[in-house]
Amino acid sequence: MNYNDITMKYVIANWKANKTLEEAQAWIKEFIRIIEADSNILMSLEENRLTVVIAPTHPLIYPLKEMLGERKNIYFGSQDLSSVEEGSYTGEVTAKSLSSLIKFALIGHSERRNKLNETEDLIGKKIDLSKKYNIDTILCVRGTQDKVYENAVFVAYEPVYAIGTGNNEDVSTVLKVRNELSLKPGMKFIYGASVDSNNCREYLEKEEIDGLLVGTASLDPTSFCSILEKV
Ligand code: PGA
Repeated sequence: MNYNDITMKYVIANWKANKTLEEAQAWIKEFIRIIEADSNILMSLEENRLTVVIAPTHPLIYPLKEMLGERKNIYFGSQDLSSVEEGSYTGEVTAKSLSSLIKFALIGHSERRNKLNETEDLIGKKIDLSKKYNIDTILCVRGTQDKVYENAVFVAYEPVYAIGTGNNEDVSTVLKVRNELSLKPGMKFIYGASVDSNNCREYLEKEEIDGLLVGTASLDPTSFCSILEKV
């Protein structure tokens, strides 16, 4: 990806472990219907002011990508990928296998760190493999306690207390944390945690915030698109 466009905002849908194939297809169908009727969203995509990333569970990526077709500035992402490259590792989904399907991967989400014991060592390996296979890492951090890796393209700050609670972090605190993280030059900064159509604008209007990672409000295409509307 080319990241020269400084006015681009990235809005990422993190569906987590939700949706059957049928539910996901219904989402895509409705998403297409909404965006095709919405000149604001179409213009933001067309004029390189908006990039949308949809991150479903792994088995849904291919059928949904086929269904959506090629559309400017809309991509699929994975919610995770393996720390091993390939070989005899039953059940692992590798960067290599995902590389023709996705442009982005979420790595190090707090739910993986906290509930699935993901370590910095594993996270570092995943980021290196993403880079090797041309997948841009969206590294999720809980705060300054988590390492910022040089090979991450995006850093998504997601305060754990604010995830899925409706209690989004105020923008001044988010900007303060951004300054305390050791972001490398050119790294993009994303905020996530209880973002919805009512609060998204305050983050989007800040130049220092390059986009939003959206969980709960991304599960419904109407509420997700009402965030895209505000870009
Ligand atoms: P939320 O989830 O929008 O439901 O708070 C965000 C995330 O965990 O990525």
